[in-house]
Amino acid sequence: MDRRDLVRSLRWVGSRDGWRAVRAAWRRHRIDARDLPGGGAQRARVPGTACGAEALPGGGVVWFAQSSLRVRVAVGGAVFCGWDGAAPEPSYALAGECPAADTRAVLEPDKDGWRVVSERITVVVFRNGAVEFRTPGGVLLRRELPPRWWDGPGRASCWVQRARTPADAVVFGLGGRSSGPGLPAGSYRLWNTDPCAAFGPGDDPLYITMPVQFVVADGGCHLVFHDNTWDGRVSLRDGEEGAGSGHDQLGGCEVRFEGGPLRYWVMAGSPGRVLGTWTALTGRPALPPRWALGYQHARWGFGSAEEVRRVAAGYRERGMPVSALHLDIDHLDGHRIFTVDRDAFPELPVLAAELREHGTRLVSIVDPAVKAEPGLAVYDSGTAADAFVRDARGQVVRGVVWPGETVFPDFTEPRVRRWWGGLYAERLQQGFAGFWHDMNEPTSFTAFARYGEATLPRSARHSLEGRGGDHREAHNVYGLAMARAGYEALRELLPGQRPFFFSRSGWAGMQRYGGTWSGDVATGWPGLRASLALVLGLGLCGVPYSGPDVGGFHAVPSPELFVRWWQLAAYLPFFRSHSAIDGGRREPWEFGPRAEECVRAALAERVRLLPYLYTLAHLAHRTGAPYVRPLWWYEPDDRRLRSGGDAFLLGKALLVAPVLEQGATARAVRLPRGRWYDAATEAAHHGGGQVLLDAPLDRTPVLVRAGAVLPVAAEGGLLLEVWAPAPGQTGSGVVITDEGDGWEPPRVERFTSRWEHGAVVVEREGADEVGYPVRVRGLRPG
Ligand code: GLC
Repeated sequence: MDRRDLVRSLRWVGSRDGWRAVRAAWRRHRIDARDLPGGGAQRARVPGTACGAEALPGGGVVWFAQSSLRVRVAVGGAVFCGWDGAAPEPSYALAGECPAADTRAVLEPDKDGWRVVSERITVVVFRNGAVEFRTPGGVLLRRELPPRWWDGPGRASCWVQRARTPADAVVFGLGGRSSGPGLPAGSYRLWNTDPCAAFGPGDDPLYITMPVQFVVADGGCHLVFHDNTWDGRVSLRDGEEGAGSGHDQLGGCEVRFEGGPLRYWVMAGSPGRVLGTWTALTGRPALPPRWALGYQHARWGFGSAEEVRRVAAGYRERGMPVSALHLDIDHLDGHRIFTVDRDAFPELPVLAAELREHGTRLVSIVDPAVKAEPGLAVYDSGTAADAFVRDARGQVVRGVVWPGETVFPDFTEPRVRRWWGGLYAERLQQGFAGFWHDMNEPTSFTAFARYGEATLPRSARHSLEGRGGDHREAHNVYGLAMARAGYEALRELLPGQRPFFFSRSGWAGMQRYGGTWSGDVATGWPGLRASLALVLGLGLCGVPYSGPDVGGFHAVPSPELFVRWWQLAAYLPFFRSHSAIDGGRREPWEFGPRAEECVRAALAERVRLLPYLYTLAHLAHRTGAPYVRPLWWYEPDDRRLRSGGDAFLLGKALLVAPVLEQGATARAVRLPRGRWYDAATEAAHHGGGQVLLDAPLDRTPVLVRAGAVLPVAAEGGLLLEVWAPAPGQTGSGVVITDEGDGWEPPRVERFTSRWEHGAVVVEREGADEVGYPVRVRGLRPG
């Protein structure tokens, strides 16, 4: 055990539960040593030479001496490849049924082997088992080399597959990675992990890992998804441009899994199209209720209902709207889930109703681990329902989490999901309106890293929807399945409302149920930078609703850092401050009058932009396009935009350049093409190059795209802010509105802007009247 592990374990476990964690670590180690299959002889295998092929709907199968490859183009354009007979289903990632085969695509002989031509991708299968993906114009997107398996009797076969991508390609995604958004060369593990300490850039892996690579190159974008939930690793290598010839010039990636099928999906096109295809396959992002786009305040250690009231009143007195207050584990009775500490929070429903009158909802933390305590209702009902994970010998697996000795529901069993879902009725009775899933990697504290990780034994048994398997396969989808349990229950318990969930852990497809947050990001400027990397990277994996703990989790930020963090988060979908029990306060007035003023201005701007953010939420739900988009979103072939990650587009209209450096009062940003206006001064900038923007402490540099039609909140309703198009150009915008909750179809209105006789004119498509007051901006001379 190295020093870092020791410090971490003592810090997190504390002396009270320390001995329990020591025992749990030892138990985990012993169970795995006993129940996991041992080494044994392993045999390496490659596909060998192709010996025939058969056309099937959407593609076909190529037979090799020692394997087979199924290629199947699905309706919507995603291409499935499955080796060794792997089929697209069953899959935790897919939303519902696997899409039908696109019967226009057929496998046909080619000079190198076989090919399948589809609308957006041409797949070439070589006789040695290599597979190429090309654009319809013939540009190489990705070349997979023949895979290699290691099979052994009675054990999972591991496999590795290497791929080549163009030298200029940048890889994004792989879930929530602190070193992004563009991932540097290196090795990235696919195993959801609680770092058990505050993390900063480069700490890896974190809570959400996904075998999803979003690859951007001059020649085109593609997303590749290895549909495998096992422990794995993706190693990225930079391309050596100009060096050597042929494939030496290419960048590369190696994907390695410890078990599970070798199957993957590839989709290509513009970034918008790629995410559209991806979220058609794995589910469109859940649409949050409108209140979830407001500012939210959390704290581990409110301690009492009185303190919650005091904080809420503090915001109110200062005219700062708070849409939700989040209660952490300290409101529970001894950290037991689905209970309330009735001394400290005597009448939660009353508190909830009181806050609600002022427009503030209560959100509850929900951890998966149940205290192993006979007599505790949740433990007893879970035991009666046979809900808890067992080891290979049938003993219920015990771990250690906040309440002490705990057991873990097996969310991969439909029956258990239903039992668990029923428990949310208690939370609704207490007056909670939303749910914060935590510790669901799942985490069980460990005192000794060498005796295993802070999770369940790898040999622990899971239902896996009745198929049966162990934790090596179930681990990465534990949080996803928990989210499903909660979401499906809420749909039944409150059919008229849109559930609000966010979850620390998850996997491909988690956006169907809600969003996520940074987890325990370290207080400090590097943590601020990592916060943005996470949001951008997750958005490119199809999870658009996320944001950091404003101020960082574990320590007290300086007033300047707090202001900059708040200013960034005010432009992110999930805008929430939070801190650890010993991390100090996050009420803005705790940071002095100057900081309070800066924060107030950023919050007022957030409130003003709510109609725009709500439109972006609807767009994400309809198309998969994230609210927060990298600067290269509309120009993926611009290498200089690809290399930056410290500014972003909020929808199509806004470019936000947050200050991520201590002491900075100006910052440079490279602009996408076109004309941009400084939102504060209305000064025009010409895109395509770098500009230096003023960034005094009281504002974040924000630019607006010329021609944008932006819905903003104004006295008495909604106003269209129209930014003058560049001379000779036109512009556009969309506004999506609804009741703020529920399932009624929204109203979608499209607007265009143009110059006419020296004036800016805005029109609503298909209507004579614009229907909203209009304010034209960007007319400043010069
Ligand atoms: C975990 C969460 C954090 C929460 C704490 C106590 O560390 O990431 O947000 O405050 O547990 O529940």
